[in-house]
Amino acid sequence: MQLVTTPFGETSASVLRGTLGAREILFLPRHGSDHRVPPHRINYRANLWALRACGAERVLGLAAVGGITARFEPEVLAVPDQIIDYTYGRAHTLYEGDSGDLEHVDLTAPYCERLRRALISACASSGQAVVDEGVYGATQGPRLETAAEILRLERDGCDMVGMTGMPEAALARELGLRYASLAFVVNWAAGKGEGGAITMREIEENLDRCVERVLAVLMAVAELA
Ligand code: HPA
Repeated sequence: MQLVTTPFGETSASVLRGTLGAREILFLPRHGSDHRVPPHRINYRANLWALRACGAERVLGLAAVGGITARFEPEVLAVPDQIIDYTYGRAHTLYEGDSGDLEHVDLTAPYCERLRRALISACASSGQAVVDEGVYGATQGPRLETAAEILRLERDGCDMVGMTGMPEAALARELGLRYASLAFVVNWAAGKGEGGAITMREIEENLDRCVERVLAVLMAVAELA
């Protein structure tokens, strides 16, 4: 376990060092070790900076999401290829104008394609069905969305919705880290399910049903990537 001091303040938790299969990995729970840090309060800059300082070159972001379009029903695993950012008020860049080194990073493809392909291959080799594309809409949270907001996201082209994908992906790019995300659908997004309101119970039950499959994919990706 390593507590890292960063120029951006405190990380969500200490960085854990471990092994997955034969590979050495780092783990940093972005919501904190006791899951108390809400999505809008996560210090994304500190977390990614700390991972890089500990030697990370590639980052896999695990993402529980709500499903918007038909293919993204609960329990589906997905590797998104695009993002639309609806978040606000988050520290979203390393470039604050206090030094001369401004860079406008390219985010045409917000995820590293090689890492995405490794995740998709890992799904195949571990026998897990996966949707190998999709647009991730990043919302502010911590509340869930209104049904009208989800319809707007759908009109915009979003397939799934989550609260932590941005600014994480953009900051990873600014830091030169290769970044991809493994998403798992834990509920139908607001207004998309049959049952009316979204309950924490359904989210937790679907999450439980995804955990083993996500771990199987991570074991497999450790062999490949
Ligand atoms: N909306 C936003 N974030 C989420 C959801 C959702 O429905 N489910 C899991 N994370």
